[in-house]
Amino acid sequence: MEDSRIALPIGTALDRFIKSRQTAFPFATGELSQLLRDIALSGKVVNREINRAGLINLAGAAGSENSTGEQQQNLDVLANIRFSRSLEKGGEVCAIVSEEEDEIIEVNRNAHYVVAIDPLDGSSNIDVNVSIGTLFSIYRRVSPEGGPISMDDVLQPGKDQVAAGYILYGSSTMLVFTTGRGVNGFTYDPSLGEYFLSHQNMQIPKDGSIYSINEGSYHSFSQGVKDFVEDCREKGYTGRYIGSLVADFHRNLLKGGIYVYPSISKSPNGKLRLMYECNTLAMLAEEAGGMATDGTNRILDIVPSDIHQQVPFFVGSKHMVERARELIEDAKMVRSSQ
Ligand code: AHG
Ligand code: MN
Ligand code: MN
Repeated sequence: MEDSRIALPIGTALDRFIKSRQTAFPFATGELSQLLRDIALSGKVVNREINRAGLINLAGAAGSENSTGEQQQNLDVLANIRFSRSLEKGGEVCAIVSEEEDEIIEVNRNAHYVVAIDPLDGSSNIDVNVSIGTLFSIYRRVSPEGGPISMDDVLQPGKDQVAAGYILYGSSTMLVFTTGRGVNGFTYDPSLGEYFLSHQNMQIPKDGSIYSINEGSYHSFSQGVKDFVEDCREKGYTGRYIGSLVADFHRNLLKGGIYVYPSISKSPNGKLRLMYECNTLAMLAEEAGGMATDGTNRILDIVPSDIHQQVPFFVGSKHMVERARELIEDAKMVRSSQ
């Protein structure tokens, strides 16, 4: 076994990286390693389907709705099947929470891990060939193995995640993940069918100059969020919003920036889901030296009350997320003194 403190060189294959880091994983039984491999493999399968979606009639709506009442796309349904099947067969998972399923899926009672997953995020971008992603969060169950799954196993705060990551299906496909010891990025080489380490110990710049928010909803933002957007404009920051969470986050992680999905009138708690969108990116952001809040509170401290709970989301460069919080607090003070 290699020493997990020694940085592995660029070009290291994912499998070797996981093996060499295994002793540093919490509980280090090899099960988490296998689980990460299963997710990476399903990502390859989904990547293949995405690449030929236009050819095999996979683009477009499936005619059904997901847990939050949004239109499911064919690829949403397919990605959900691909990931959940491999997690079920893999044997390391006792319960799955998926954006595409109303209820918790109970899997192997003898297994130790709970997975929350958004199998395909940004599905409205599928038809127009824009980058999309998969997000996953992994928790260790708290109830004894062998027994039924309890709500406490599933509704854990993000700070208890043992691993989190995403696959970005972009101009190249990447797997970016953390097991609580930094963030590493792997680029998929389709000709070899393997992911290779391309981004070691990723760090998000403390300051950034990119802000990513759907300004079309400006009129329904709170005064604090409006003030923050105004502040970004005055500073001459660059507005960049793909409308694909993983791609927007990934760009900001590399270049420095903030992604915001605030409370708006049609979604008072924001649009994004705590368990498989916000917590995932919050853990990655903090591991990379960034920050994530709901405007006031640290995302990773929130105890979910529902598997599909939505929260306002501010994530990215530390100083930008702090600035948003400051302006939100100032606006609240002004309101309460009026
Ligand atoms: P999903 O495809 O899982 O429903 O979520 C899409 C999300 C996210 O990717 C993106 O940042 C956001 O929705 C865009 O929403 P708006 O169009 O409201 O800005
Ligand atoms: Mn999503
Ligand atoms: Mn989705």
